[in-house]
Amino acid sequence: MKAVNLLELEDLARERLPQGPFDFIAGGAEDEVTLRANREAFQRIQLRPRVLVDVSTVDPSTEVLGRRVELPVLLAPVALQRLAHDEGELASARAAEAAGTVMVLSTVSTCTLEDVAAAAGGHKWFQLYPLRNKEGTERLISRAKAAGYTAICVTADVPWLGRREADIRNNLQFGADIVPANLLDEIRLADLASGPRGPAGGAAAGLSDPGLDWDGIDWIRSVSSPLPVLVKGILTAEDARLAVEHGVEGVIVSNHGGRQLDGAPASIEALPEVVAAVEGRAEVLLDSGIRRGTDVLKALALGARAVLIGRPYIWGLAIDGEAGVSSVLSMLREEIELAMALSGCPTVADIDRSRVRLGSPAE
Ligand code: FNR
Repeated sequence: MKAVNLLELEDLARERLPQGPFDFIAGGAEDEVTLRANREAFQRIQLRPRVLVDVSTVDPSTEVLGRRVELPVLLAPVALQRLAHDEGELASARAAEAAGTVMVLSTVSTCTLEDVAAAAGGHKWFQLYPLRNKEGTERLISRAKAAGYTAICVTADVPWLGRREADIRNNLQFGADIVPANLLDEIRLADLASGPRGPAGGAAAGLSDPGLDWDGIDWIRSVSSPLPVLVKGILTAEDARLAVEHGVEGVIVSNHGGRQLDGAPASIEALPEVVAAVEGRAEVLLDSGIRRGTDVLKALALGARAVLIGRPYIWGLAIDGEAGVSSVLSMLREEIELAMALSGCPTVADIDRSRVRLGSPAE
């Protein structure tokens, strides 16, 4: 692959994809203030390197929900991956397995959750958009359990679909081969195409339940038991505390890659208040804007157990299928190892709060 870093992938993928799908993947909500903030906020954080530490070997492996991952980076749930490559989610899941990490499969995947489970071992989580139809939600969770998924990740920040203006401008429509494979039994395709908010790109909005609240999380936990449940899309201490009170095992600090509420904070800026509110009672993960090994180091130093990447691996998928996703993960792994070595952290356990400085140098 020609890219030297994750930031270069977007332009390479642009050459491979039609404009509609490219913009759907790349875009953010409204003025894309939050989308840009996700990058800018990482750049404002400084690292505090320690020197003269033996870094002859550096080990970026860690544990997430009690299971080992070879690097602290997971593949975020991204809908409709056959838009990027014919093999879609199957290719991403195989690359995650090869890298020794977790793929979080979207509810709105273009390959069925059973096919993805059969295509790749390794441990996988199922991302849940709770459906308006409770029985349908229950069926999805049971299918994920039966297929061997090891956690249920409930996305909480899409009660309504964010306004992605590029999709409106492009009048985004998907071909007949791009279908939400897990949901064909649950909904009529016609309902999807005319979802109440936005174009077909907003498939999730037409089917996901805008009435979901914390009682709904209790119910999802009871149906998902014994699997752990994470809530994705937390940006405040208040919601982090509620998540813990409702017994979830993990929260994912995320603004959905700037695709939902424009004006929401960069997730890395929301991380410290969430970590403080959680007080170690659940695992805290983060996504939105991770592009560099140093971004991963900053997130871990501020209390994230691991991070997830979204668009970068989809660009890799568009460029070169499974091999493309694998190269994205290995580029990021190399950068993480380098960042750890240069800041004097031979293991992930060494990456603590003292390694970063927020805001002014006087801190
Ligand atoms: C997403 N994301 C997402 N999240 C989710 O919970 N379910 C989903 O189906 C999707 N679908 C989806 C499609 C596309 C094209 C994108 C780009 C993103 C959000 C995703 O999980 C993650 O939060 C962001 O992508 C992280 O930001 P970066 O890494 O893309 O900056």
